[in-house]
Amino acid sequence: RASLEVDLCRIEPGSTVTVKWMGKPVFIRRRTKDDIKSTNSVDVGSLCDPQEDSARVKNPEWLVVMGVCTHLSCIPLPNAGDFGGWFCPCHVSHYDISRRIRMGPAPFNLEVPTYSFLEENKLPIG
Ligand code: FES
Repeated sequence: RASLEVDLCRIEPGSTVTVKWMGKPVFIRRRTKDDIKSTNSVDVGSLCDPQEDSARVKNPEWLVVMGVCTHLSCIPLPNAGDFGGWFCPCHVSHYDISRRIRMGPAPFNLEVPTYSFLEENKLPIG
């Protein structure tokens, strides 16, 4: 299993980078305080794939998810859709700031890969 180390220093709050791991895109977003507040204000019971944001992150400032739609594996677009998160244009699925599915045919939230914060500003994935 190949692993990848991402340098987080250059990622500004509110921006997202895409890296490739095992041939697939991984989205890393540095969330703002507003992002975190808004994602925690969602009624988890109303979600199709109910998951607290805290179960999806190791540090609320950093969201790390696979960039693969859980419907038929298209790559969703960043900062788009009706829920301030990601939008998959293939069959119109909307994901929120925690990349939980909110509307459309995708059955599950975007998958969280295995990663850790080994030392400050370094993120090994895999
Ligand atoms: Fe994303 Fe179908 S592949 S909505």
